[in-house]
Amino acid sequence: MNSYRSDFPIFQGNDVIYFDNAATTQRPAAVFDAMKRFNDECNANPLRGLYDWSVRATERYEQARHTVAELIGAARDCEIVFTRNTTESINLIAYSYGLSTLHEGDEIAVSIMEHHSNQLPWRMAAERTGAKIVWIECEPDGTITREEYQSKITERTRIVALTQVSNVLGSTNPIREIADYAHGKGAVMVVDGAQSTPHMPVDVRELGADFFVFSGHKLMGPMGIGVLYGRISLLNAMPPFLTGGEMIESVTRDSLTYAPVPEKFEAGTVNALGAVGLAAAIRYLQDIGFEDIMERERQLTQRLMDGLSALPEVKIFGQKDASRHCGIVTFEVEGCHPHDVASVLDTEHICIRAGHHCAQPLLIHLGVSSTARASLYFYNTEEEVDRFVQAVSCVRRWMGY
Ligand code: ALA
Repeated sequence: MNSYRSDFPIFQGNDVIYFDNAATTQRPAAVFDAMKRFNDECNANPLRGLYDWSVRATERYEQARHTVAELIGAARDCEIVFTRNTTESINLIAYSYGLSTLHEGDEIAVSIMEHHSNQLPWRMAAERTGAKIVWIECEPDGTITREEYQSKITERTRIVALTQVSNVLGSTNPIREIADYAHGKGAVMVVDGAQSTPHMPVDVRELGADFFVFSGHKLMGPMGIGVLYGRISLLNAMPPFLTGGEMIESVTRDSLTYAPVPEKFEAGTVNALGAVGLAAAIRYLQDIGFEDIMERERQLTQRLMDGLSALPEVKIFGQKDASRHCGIVTFEVEGCHPHDVASVLDTEHICIRAGHHCAQPLLIHLGVSSTARASLYFYNTEEEVDRFVQAVSCVRRWMGY
């Protein structure tokens, strides 16, 4: 297996095993280099100045938008709005599209496996408009059955909010199939791509997504840059979310005209440096290619699940097939609180996440309050997986059992 670990400055000179990639990913030198070039060559406020630095900052910012549009198959660059993160993207949709289109009696279908960031904005929109949340349940392994979604998405449904990949179980939802059904009922499809975009090819049009969102930092970009894709006809009809600088065409005392999309949704000074870093991360990812990334993650996940399955005290959540985990392996060690598991692993320089993973309704549905979660990315190695399994096998002894 190829090793990419050497491309990442943070891994140099230490033996840290970073298995918390579903929370955030590490950045290759190529991302820092691109950000340094922006700072050294043209740091200025984009979209405003008429001088060379500002013009070049604008060009790099818009080039980054184009790189994102290409990555996810958007028809036009202007369908890409830069935000802070997935959470902000979904709030933008809920406040703008949700509050302006929902009415009393309308329904928003939200799956029980959603991250809080794809639940709470919809609950806010429902409370303010009199719409109702309808929960789409899932099986214990994360599967959403056809009967289940067809019984919950009806003529009353205006919005379906669904993650492409669960951040707890790693399961992938059949977005296209559900989007076709939702469209047949007149609903729009909001897809949370935070856990899918870093790991698999995404084409928003093939998926049938009306809105698609993800974060830069889970895809090796910097924190503080996120993406909202929206179909142009929807974005054009939506009111702004934030108002202020650079999102207007003209303002007088008595009137104002908003700028066209995407500027209408990018009030204030934009995070051009973040966008440039994200674009560099995307290019790095594309140079490796999703085929290799997916195969490598499948092999690593298989090895990790085989190792954990051989430990009688460990229970793995989700599907049996490693290729259906998207690198995410959620587990518990009998008799040990997940926080203790994470703390013991930390003494071996192993980073995992433990807790409710910002998906409390799903954990309640699964009958647990907390789990441990190892989440892999292609830059992890087989040696790391073996050391991790060895360390997990020692947790109970370490705890005095
Ligand atoms: N959404 C991130 C996670 O699942 C933070 O860990």
